[in-house]
Amino acid sequence: MKRVGSEAHALQAKYCYGVWLSHLKNSYQPSGWDEIPKSVAEVGPGEALGVGLAALISGVERYRTFDVVQLVEPGNHLPLVDQLVELFRNREPSPQPFPSNILTDRHLEGAMEPGRIAAIREAAAAIDDGKYGGEMLSYTVPWVTGGLGRDGEYDLVLSQAALMYEPNLEMIYAEISRVLRTGGCTSNQIDFSCAGATKDWDGHRLVSDSIWGLLTARRPYYVSRRSPAEHIRAMEEAGLKVLAVERTKRAPSCDRNALSPRFRDLSAEDRETSSALFAAVKN
Ligand SMILES: C[S@@+](CC[C@H](N)C(=O)[O-])C[C@H]1O[C@@H](n2cnc3c(N)ncnc32)[C@H](O)[C@@H]1O
Repeated sequence: MKRVGSEAHALQAKYCYGVWLSHLKNSYQPSGWDEIPKSVAEVGPGEALGVGLAALISGVERYRTFDVVQLVEPGNHLPLVDQLVELFRNREPSPQPFPSNILTDRHLEGAMEPGRIAAIREAAAAIDDGKYGGEMLSYTVPWVTGGLGRDGEYDLVLSQAALMYEPNLEMIYAEISRVLRTGGCTSNQIDFSCAGATKDWDGHRLVSDSIWGLLTARRPYYVSRRSPAEHIRAMEEAGLKVLAVERTKRAPSCDRNALSPRFRDLSAEDRETSSALFAAVKN
């Protein structure tokens, strides 16, 4: 079992807390909700289900996670609960100001009452024991098409730095649309950089499809190199109305003519987008 020190847990808790609050804010305002989502799914949670624990502490009732490979390790989760509770108690900035308009003092008093926190600790301990099928918090790996949940099951489906690895955008957004209730929201933070594969942040766009295939052949997943416009189109085609796109931009590192042919038609805005946070609602 890999040992993780308390400092590492504190960092991980702060990261997961910030990720949860950013998706909560990103989905709450555009959706016009007046209460926080009850049923939430996350695609690609990574090494720990900390975003889910933060969501549960803030009042979400059920949180389901789905990944393509098992990255979650035992022993990480119970210590995260205490760190996260502390962050919520202190209304810690994330670094954005705490969303007191959504998570009001009255709401958090109920969400963080001792009985609920004890139930969340139990759910975290179950994950640490390798029991992944809990009612409050679950982890499905590997997930397969059609396996993201029941039709209309969730108020919110989110992902953080995961959907850039999915080559089949039409499939994933159709699946997300299927499991969202009408009026439900999907909030996805997507990295459009090379994820460390090349020297320059956008160097992956210089590489031909055949070479890219060779470079990534042995990896369980790899950057699919789909553009922001392709993500937006796939969401809209799946019946997800895109309400907000918050882009982080960087200067392109090369001339447009140097790009591999399939990237030469990228819009100027997409070329500069190194990551983006999307909010879309199911009509
Ligand atoms: C860079 S990690 C990000 C993990 C975590 N969300 C975070 O912010 O630290 C990418 C995650 O996406 C998952 N992933 C990759 N392709 C996926 C897919 N097609 N469906 C679901 N998860 C996927 C990986 O297994 C991993 O958990």
